[in-house]
Amino acid sequence: MTEERKQFIAGMPKAELHLHIEGSFEPELMFEIARRNQVEIKFDSVEEVKKAYDFSNLQDFLDIYYEGAQVLLKEQDFFDLTWAYLRRIHAQNVIHTEIFFDPQTHTDRGVPFEIVLNGITSALDKAKNELGITNRLIMCFLRHLDESEAEKTLEMALPFKDKIYGVGLDSSEMGHPPSKFQNVFAKAIKEGFVTVAHAGEEGPAQYIWEALDLLHISRLDHGNRSIDDPKLMQRLAAEKMALTVCPLSNLKLCVVDDLKNHPLRKLMQNGLKVTINSDDPAYFGGYMNENFWAIADALDLSKDELYTLLRNAFEASFVSDERKQEMIGQLDAYFEM
Ligand code: ADE
Ligand code: ZN
Repeated sequence: MTEERKQFIAGMPKAELHLHIEGSFEPELMFEIARRNQVEIKFDSVEEVKKAYDFSNLQDFLDIYYEGAQVLLKEQDFFDLTWAYLRRIHAQNVIHTEIFFDPQTHTDRGVPFEIVLNGITSALDKAKNELGITNRLIMCFLRHLDESEAEKTLEMALPFKDKIYGVGLDSSEMGHPPSKFQNVFAKAIKEGFVTVAHAGEEGPAQYIWEALDLLHISRLDHGNRSIDDPKLMQRLAAEKMALTVCPLSNLKLCVVDDLKNHPLRKLMQNGLKVTINSDDPAYFGGYMNENFWAIADALDLSKDELYTLLRNAFEASFVSDERKQEMIGQLDAYFEM
């Protein structure tokens, strides 16, 4: 890629809609927090950690991701984690972010829900005030655990509706279909939360149908496998359902063998509202710029396609129409539209 194209992509105003805050935990910060909390980690050096980030599937990654999160204990830890992410994306011209957090990863270790939430939201508030980055926070249920556990987590979130905008579903997809969580999602909707779900990352197109029909999602996380089902693509296009696609994640988790074979363009050609996101940037080799660079290079994306991907994300964000228009205005100015 030419330096000029690289710089153009770096300068584009962006919104990120699929980011696990625990997945932005860089090894350097992990060691620092482990040291100050006097928690043992099984690696001796940052280099050794990075060497272990060689995954053959989603579960391989999740095992190491949950282990890394064990060092997070105090409110300051969650603040530092979130603030480090926000500073990085600010440098990449991300102007709005919607982040996931996995409360069960922490509450199951005895870390109070409120500690996790306060650490994350104080960093989000600071980024809004000091960097102008707007945000939404989405709480995910771990799908490898029972629905009753998700219900307990939803209960914990009820006093904090002002801070948590939506609920999502993540972790091991195969064998844990969306149907397993239909009751807790129905309750969440009744309580006023928006719903999203990871579906069709490793799992079949059938899981995407379930996420639509049973979890009543407002946005689809990943959704790659919709490419297998023309009727499903028609439905997603008709509903203008946005897909939060994560190119480097798909590559690192072997969801695609090569970014040149990524279904992104085909999904767009089928009328789907595709967006680009980083998922777990500390583990998959990059934040928003790196994802855009990689996929733009592999598929030779045109300027029009880049514009569409960015605009889709602003339109699909869970913010006010006023903020959407403001962000789209910034985008149009950048592309001289
Ligand atoms: N948790 C963090 N990243 C995830 C992913 N890509 N899929 C499912 N669960 C996750
Ligand atoms: Zn994800």
